[in-house]
Parts: sequence; C-alpha cells; structure tokens
Amino acid sequence: MGIVFRNRWKERCARMKPLRSNAWFSNDDEVAVLHRVALASAGVCKRTHDDKPIIGIANSASDLNPCNLPLSNLASAAKMGVLQAGGLPVVFPTMSLGEDLMKPTAMLYRNLLSIEIEEMIRANPLDGIIVLANCDKTIPGALMGAISANIPTVLITGGARPAARFQGRRIGTGTDLWRLWDERRAGRLGDEAWDELEKTLSCGVGACNTMGTASSMAIVMEAMGFMVPGSSTIPAGDQRGYHAGMKAGELAVFCVKSDLTPTKILTRSSLNNAIKVLNAIGGSTNAIIHLCAIAGRAGIEVSLEDFSALGKDVGVLVDVEPTGQYLVHDFDAGGGVPALLRELSEHLSHATINIAGQRLDEVIASAPSPGGAIRRDSEPLATGGAFGILRGTLAPDGAVIKKPTASKRLFRHKGPALVFGSYAEMLARIDDPDLEVSAESILVLAGCGPVGTPGMPEWGMIPIPTKLVKQGVSDMLRISDARMSGTSFGTVVLHVAPEAAVGGPLALVISGDIIEIDVEAGRLDLVVPVAELERRRLQWSAPASPHLRGWPALYRDHVMQAPQGCDLDFLIEPKGARLPFIEPEIGRS
Ligand code: FES
Repeated sequence: MGIVFRNRWKERCARMKPLRSNAWFSNDDEVAVLHRVALASAGVCKRTHDDKPIIGIANSASDLNPCNLPLSNLASAAKMGVLQAGGLPVVFPTMSLGEDLMKPTAMLYRNLLSIEIEEMIRANPLDGIIVLANCDKTIPGALMGAISANIPTVLITGGARPAARFQGRRIGTGTDLWRLWDERRAGRLGDEAWDELEKTLSCGVGACNTMGTASSMAIVMEAMGFMVPGSSTIPAGDQRGYHAGMKAGELAVFCVKSDLTPTKILTRSSLNNAIKVLNAIGGSTNAIIHLCAIAGRAGIEVSLEDFSALGKDVGVLVDVEPTGQYLVHDFDAGGGVPALLRELSEHLSHATINIAGQRLDEVIASAPSPGGAIRRDSEPLATGGAFGILRGTLAPDGAVIKKPTASKRLFRHKGPALVFGSYAEMLARIDDPDLEVSAESILVLAGCGPVGTPGMPEWGMIPIPTKLVKQGVSDMLRISDARMSGTSFGTVVLHVAPEAAVGGPLALVISGDIIEIDVEAGRLDLVVPVAELERRRLQWSAPASPHLRGWPALYRDHVMQAPQGCDLDFLIEPKGARLPFIEPEIGRS
C-alpha cells in the first residue's frame, strides 16, 4: 500500500468515526483476506481501506407471515438506496413473527428476535442496519435488538393490506371479524355469509389495515424518528413505498457517516412524543408494552402512568378502526404521520432528531395540513387520552384499559366475578346455555400473563357469553392478565400485574367475589376481606409448567411483567446508564 494512500486514509478517519467493519477488513493478514473473499463471493466488493459503510438489511419476509411479504420488494429498494449513497448493502434473513399462525402467540418470540438482531450485528461486520418489519412483534423485536447494539438503524415497514369488501361495504382487518363472529354466535350470520367472509378476507398481503398493533408501532416509530417521514402508513404495494425504501437506504449510510445512533434518536423527549402520538391515534394497548421494552433497552425510565398523564391533554384525532370508522389507508391519504405531528405540534417536544438529522420542527414545517381520517385538534374523537391506568388491590402493579373503545357506562362498575382459570376453561364454558352470568357480571381470565402461558397471548377480549349475545348484550367488563389485539374493542382491562402465574391477586379471585372499577379514579379493587385473601394465598401454589427446556423455559425464567415491557431481565440496561456493547474478538473463526 502506497504511503500517499495510507496518509489520505488516516486523514479521512480523523474526520469520520472509524467504521466498525474496519476491524474485519483493514489488515493485510490472512484473516482479513478471508473476510474480503467471503463478501466478494456474495458480490460485495470491500477494499482494504475504503470508507464504504456496510449496511445490513435484515429482511423478515416469510410465506408464514403474509403481513411481511411486501418487504422483499422494499429490501431491493433499500439496497439500491445504500448503493447510491456509497454504501455496501448486505441482505440477510431474520425470523418472521407472524401474528396469525404462531402459537401460543408471536409475543413469546419477540425477545428472541431482538436477540437474533443484536447478535447478528455483534457477530458481523455491519456499520449500520436497516430492519424490515411489519407484523406486530417484528417491529419492536427488531428495534429492541438494534437499540441494544446501538449501531445506526433505520426501520422500513411494509404497509397495510388492501381493504376487504363484505356485503357491499369495506371492512377492516380483525375488528370487523370480531363483530361478525358475535353475529355468527348469535345465529344471525348464516353459513353462506360466513364462507363469503372468509374468502373476502384473503384480499392481499400487508399488515392489518385497522389501527392494530402493527400500524400503531409503525406510526410511533416514525414519530420517534426511526423511519423516513411519511413512510409508515404507505399501503402495501404502493410505489411510494419503493421510493421510501430507497430513501431509507440512503439515510442508513448518512446515519453511519454522521454517527447517528439509536440512542441519539430514542431520548426521553422522543419517547414522550411517541406516547402522545400513541394516544392521538387511539393506538393498540400492546404498544404500551413494546414502548416500555424499547425504553428499557436504552436505560430510559418509563412508568405506566406516563401513558395516561402524557395523553391527558391530547385528543384522539385519528378516526380509524377500532376507535373510529376508517382504515389506515384513509389516515395515509389524510397526510399520514407528518400531518398528525403538525396538528399535535403544540403538544410535542421539537428538540428531537430523526434518521435524516432533521429536528421535529423541520418535519412539521414541510408537513401537509391534516385531512381525511385525521381530525383537527379542536374536533377530537375523544378527549382525556386513550388509556386508563388502573391500580388497586386487584392490580397492585398496574393494569391498562383502552378508553375510546370501552363503554362509558362501565367506567364505574361493581359486580360479581365469573372466573375462568385458563383459556381452555373459558372456551369450554363460554357457550354453555346454563352459565351463571348476567350483563352485570365481570368476566375474569387468569393465568395468561407473560409467565403463565407463557408469552401473554391476545386472549383478553373474552367473548361475550353466547346466551348474553343472544339477548343483545354487546359489551361487559372483562379483566385479565393477557393482552388483546390492537384491532379489538370493548371494556377490557388488560395486563393485570403481577399476573396470576406468579401469585398476583388475580390468582386468588373466585367466582362470586365482588370487583369494583373506577376508570377515571384509576382504581381496580377486589372487594374481599384481607384475612380471606390471606387464607386463599396460603392454599395457592404456583402452577407447574410443562416447559422444562428450550426457549419457553428460558423465557419463563427471565421474563419480566407487563409494566417492564415483558423483556428478559438480562437484556435491559440499567436506568440512566448503558452497559458497553462488547465487540467480538476478530481473528480466525
Ligand atoms: Fe400481522 Fe396484523 S396480523 S399485522
């Protein structure tokens, strides 16, 4: 290597932080040769001392996950963008967490995906990463891993699937299916219509087109700064998505060159903005868990009460199912996230920065006026925030209720519990015509928390007992330590902590006990004398788990409760601090 070239290289390194990948490629020994040959075999030419950052493109497209199938096309777009910006793209597959097919729940594997992403980064010569995700758990899982590694990170999502049409009207994913299932159980939807519904629901690839968890997470991640502005709501297959993918590729290179790492984007201010946006979209309760987990990876302290306190003055402005009447496509047509941020401007901190290095006020300055499914701040769908946080003798560590989709008449309610000790028991009994239940009863489902199942499935929207559906009852108070789909609705108290499987008070409730709720006061109480609860506790023992090995066993041993984001205890950062990311030793493998 010539002296002139070596000096030029040193000058350039003095200006830009050395590339992480230099550790793999910058030597003249046999190990570096092996590394360069490995990449060259894949068509990626990495020279000894070039300054081209290597950008990993983590693609979670899979036939087992139709929500993520649009991502392969976007991976090509990202690759193009990286090349145009002078980087070297390398595409690799990651596990794909499909919400519909994975049992007991894709949530059991969110943390495993985060570990996969973090370890793929640690083990490989990547200077930056583009994560492609769409279905619910893939977005937080991928970001949690990238935040832990803290190399420059850009998120691309795949967009919402087309809208299905049923009996002459447009229907949204999930939400309408739950409503029509009740019609079916009540005997008001015949076989032919039920078959027609199934056919029409298979209408294309992409995420749920209602304000489910996938849309909620994509939107808050764009608001936080991890996405190309305006890209999180572009429908699947829309050519704008390809252009946004290319832009994402360019920005990944920009982030590496400017050392714009996730912890510079994810700050207390941007987290607060994300929480306010989550309230304004009437978003999924699952996003509360995911944001707590994401904050935990950056050592940022967040409490459940932050989600109600920060949302208190924010109106629910996005008129999308299940809170409203439209679909995510209509939110996009109304200006998407930039327009929403503009409307929320006075509630937000502008001192945040996105992957393009823009402050929030710069994004807002070029945002369109809100329209379509985005309401003006003066005409909200609901006021007082989207989430109620409840504490009390039944939920000492907290529980969550989504207010705009709940029945206000049940916000203050006192009634007898009807307890199901497991999901299987609930399914076995819920259609029983002799079930002792009335519209005033409170349905309780225990044993479905993060440790319980394990994985905390979306079983919280307990079906209304069939005998009550037939009487015209459409909502009841339901309480569980499970989650529910972002597409779900009803007066449903979720994420009760501590969960029953670790001895939370939910484990001690028996049918007939009186439960009292006051949503506005933030209370959820079991009205049973303390001495009686103590007596029951002495008789309680933790349920045995069949999981004695493998991932489920590791997960049960280390998963934290919902208020801590259901992350594993060895993956979080200490509050207000950051543990060093340990780089691998580079040598012969
Ligand atoms: Fe995948 Fe809704 S099931 S996004």
